[in-house]
This record gives sequence, C-alpha cells and structure tokens, in this order.
Amino acid sequence: MRIHHHIGRRTRSGLLAGLLAATSALAMGIAVAQPGTAEAAASLRSLADAKGRDIGFALDPNRLSESPYKQIADAEFNLVVAENAMKWEVTEPNRNQFSFGQGDAVVNYAVGSNKKVYGHTLVWHNQMPGWTSNLSGSDLLAAMKNHIAGVAGHYKGKVFAWDVVNEAFADGGSGGRRDSILQQRIGNSWIEEAFRAARAADPDAKLCINDYSTDGINAKSTAIYNLVKDFKSRGVPIDCVGFQAHLIIGQVPGDMQANLQRFTDLGVDVRVTELDIRMSTPANSSKLATQAADYKKVMNICLAVARCQGVTVWGITDKYSWIPGTFPGEGAALIWDENYAPKPAYQAVAEALGSGTTPTTPAPTTPVPTTPVPTTPAPTTPAPTTPAPNGSCTVTYVPNSWGNGFTAEIRIRNDGPDPVNAWSFGFYFTAGQQVTNAWNATVSQSGTQVLARNASYNGAVAVGGTVSFGFQGTHTGSNPSPTSFTFNGKVCANG
Ligand code: G3I
Repeated sequence: MRIHHHIGRRTRSGLLAGLLAATSALAMGIAVAQPGTAEAAASLRSLADAKGRDIGFALDPNRLSESPYKQIADAEFNLVVAENAMKWEVTEPNRNQFSFGQGDAVVNYAVGSNKKVYGHTLVWHNQMPGWTSNLSGSDLLAAMKNHIAGVAGHYKGKVFAWDVVNEAFADGGSGGRRDSILQQRIGNSWIEEAFRAARAADPDAKLCINDYSTDGINAKSTAIYNLVKDFKSRGVPIDCVGFQAHLIIGQVPGDMQANLQRFTDLGVDVRVTELDIRMSTPANSSKLATQAADYKKVMNICLAVARCQGVTVWGITDKYSWIPGTFPGEGAALIWDENYAPKPAYQAVAEALGSGTTPTTPAPTTPVPTTPVPTTPAPTTPAPTTPAPNGSCTVTYVPNSWGNGFTAEIRIRNDGPDPVNAWSFGFYFTAGQQVTNAWNATVSQSGTQVLARNASYNGAVAVGGTVSFGFQGTHTGSNPSPTSFTFNGKVCANG
C-alpha cells in the first residue's frame, strides 16, 4: 500500500467500509453497483453480529503494524484464527519447550479488538517440528499428547474452539487416511487420541476436525462423516467439523449445503474455516464478478444451515495470500486486493450477511470493463463518465485556477434511494494535480486518486439533500476537472 498523504481532520474508523468501497471503485476504474448505502456503510462484523454468526479471518500478527491491515482487521471481523502462529512447529520448536509469543500476540490482539479466537491447529502432518520426524510410534503418541496438553492447556479459556486434527484424510477418491507419519507410526487411533487429549486439556473448548476438498459430498467428506458418526457412537469427544473451502471461481460445489447439513444432522456444529476463492491471474472484472457470486453462495450456504457457526476467510488481502506461492499463476482469492481496496466479493459478502437469503444467482457488478485489478499505482484513466444505471448522486465540481494553484468547490446531492449517515467521495486527477489542504472533509490523495470523507458534522445527507466541501491544490499548468466521481461507491451524475 502506498502511503497516503492525509490532509485535514483525522479519519473515523466507522467510515472504513464506505471509504474502502469508494477506493475499490476508483482503484479498479469501474463502477461498483451498491444497492443500499446502509449495506455499503455497515461492516461485515456488524452484519454478522446481527445474524449471530462468526465472520473470521486468518491473522498474521506480524502484519498488524501495517495500518490498513489493522484497520480492516479491527473493523470487519468478530473472530480471529492464527494463520500459522499456533501450529506445532511454532509453539513447540524443541521437544517440551513451548514458545507462545506469536500465538499470544494473536490472543492479545483478539482481546484488544473484542474478537473470539479459533485455534488452528493442534495436530497436522504439515508444519510439524523437525524433532518429531524420528520418533517411534509410542514416542510420537506421547509427544503428540504432550503437545496438545501444553498448547490447549496454555490457551484454556482463551481459545473457544480448536482444529484438533487437520487434514487427516487422503486426497483422491479412496476415502482413506492420509499416509502421514502420525498415521504410519501410531496407526488409526491417533485421531481419537488427539481428541481425548484435547478434551482433557480444555474441557470447555469445542473440538473440531478440519479438512480441504470436503466442501461437497465426496469420498473424502464421507470418510470424515463416518468418523464423526463413529466418534459419536463410541463417546469419543468431537463437537464440530471445519470445511476449509479453498475454492476456485465457478466451482462452489452444488451440494455444499446438503453436505454441511448432513454433518449437523449427526449432532455437530460446522463452519467454513479457510475460505478463499482463487482465479487465474491477472484478475479481470468478469472473474471478479464470478468470484463475488461465489463468495455470496458460500455465505448463503452457511446462513442456510442452522448449525453453521460462520465463515472465516483465509487472510485479508491478496497481497499476502498463500495462493500464488502454492499455485503459480493463480491468486486474487481474497476479498481485498493487494492495495487493500475491497473487491466486488466484499459487497457480495455484505449483501449475503445483510439479507441472509438462500442462494441466488447474484450479478453484483455493472458496468464492468475488462481492466485487471491494478497491482501498481491507480490507473490514470478515470472511471466511466456516465452514471451507473442506479447512480444516485449528482456532483458539481467548480475549480478556480491561477498560476500553479487552484481551489475546487464540490457539491454532492444524494439522489437516494436511502439517506446516508457517512460518506466517502472519490475521483482521479488526470494532470498531476495535488491537493494541499481541504475544508469540510478529510481528503487524502494517493497518486492520482483522491478520496474525501465527511467531517464529523456533515456525514448525514438526506435523500435530496446536498453536502459540499472544498480543497486547495497545485497544478503544473493545466488543470482539467475530473469528470467521474463516486459517492459511497456509486458513480454519480455530473450536475
Ligand atoms: O516464517 C518463515 C520465514 O522466516 C522464512 O523466511 C520464509 C521463507 O519461505 O518462510 C516462512 O514460513 C512460511 C510460513 O508460511 C509463514 O509465512 C512457510 O515457508 C510457509 O510454508 C508457510 O505457509 C503456510 C502454509 O499453511 C504451510 O503449509 C501459509 O502461510 C498458510 O496460509 C497455510 O495455511 C494452511 C492451513 O494452515 C491449513 N489448510 C491449508 C492452508 C493453506 O495451505
């Protein structure tokens, strides 16, 4: 993210969603249709809270020093999971020497930002510390139990649920166990041993089994289904099943809802634990629209299943996703792009959480030129000059230029259909102009992109009402007026 040059009053965090929606439209050079300003202004967290569901994200605590990362994390989620910080190699790098610095950073962040902590993960064949590799079966079992006691014990009362066992089943259609060292050396019992140890370490934590490619009904998900059924019948503790949902655009399984439902019918909770929806890169508007529809489908599937606790996305920004490193040529899988601008998927998730309808066939973005999501400074081409079909704002931009300076007065009319309580307003300069100070708004500029947010006293604009603000700037000899403006993410008509 480039450093923004802030002018005027400080931002109000409550404006984040609306601000970022405008950023998105600007950064992509497209119009993002946003049906309701209420939804555009609400955070995913507030929408999920109202539904009694979790909306989570995978946190890398080292990224919290990056201001937009932290702002989004703070505002948009009510649940945190450690992307790596609680894994075996991190928490017990040497045998019986526990190291909780990174995991504690996740918990401390969650406490400070009022979020639940979901634990990931006590036992996984991947990211095991090197010292486990040469242990005999009985020693490995003892080490596994000691690890679970140490980690789940340390986080007792702080982590409300654990992925006790992660990715224990084989890929392909065999429906068998993964051929890991745990499976090879301990044998079939290692999974239930892990669950019993976790229950002993923290009797109040929900204990989950988690896996990927199990989102639809298939041999792998049926193997887990059978394990849950078996555990339930024998009194082995298990409370929940996680579906990672590392998906590809256009490929949300058609039977995902039925799959989640069949698990809850066994008496366990379910959740989507690691959602991301990747595409071949570069992204374009059509792929992003498909992705948005897919995110909405997954949200709606969870909302339609009574015991689906919520959805966690596997990261915040495409800048840091694991995908390109593992699947070269693929990426753009999250709901904020590399510049922290919300993608169409953000609005789709908000719409699903706002409405909670059963799956439909959403088409959230119009119009959609084929420009890719930029990874470099914002495009110099301004957004379309015609209003979006549902454009609901009208703008007048009146510059007054001299030498190499100018002022501009901007008046925005809210044409409805809803009143707004907070606003963000964006446009591009096309001739190197630079804002130097502003009044009646907080204005920031990044490259050619200008964003204004309401002052504390002029956020509310009734339908038919107007709001105005102004700024002073410099130019290098010509000062063409911007011709395309967005107001809370909607493209405005020019008045
Ligand atoms: O911390 C080291 C750093 O010191 C070193 O310089 C760097 C060099 O490669 O590696 C860093 O460690 C990386 C670690 O992430 C932290 O960034 C590892 O190489 C890298 O392999 C590791 O990847 C993680 C991956 O699990 C491990 O398999 C991803 O971040 C994480 O997103 C991913 O998450 C998994 C879930 O836990 C389980 N489900 C699948 C999901 C995606 O693979």
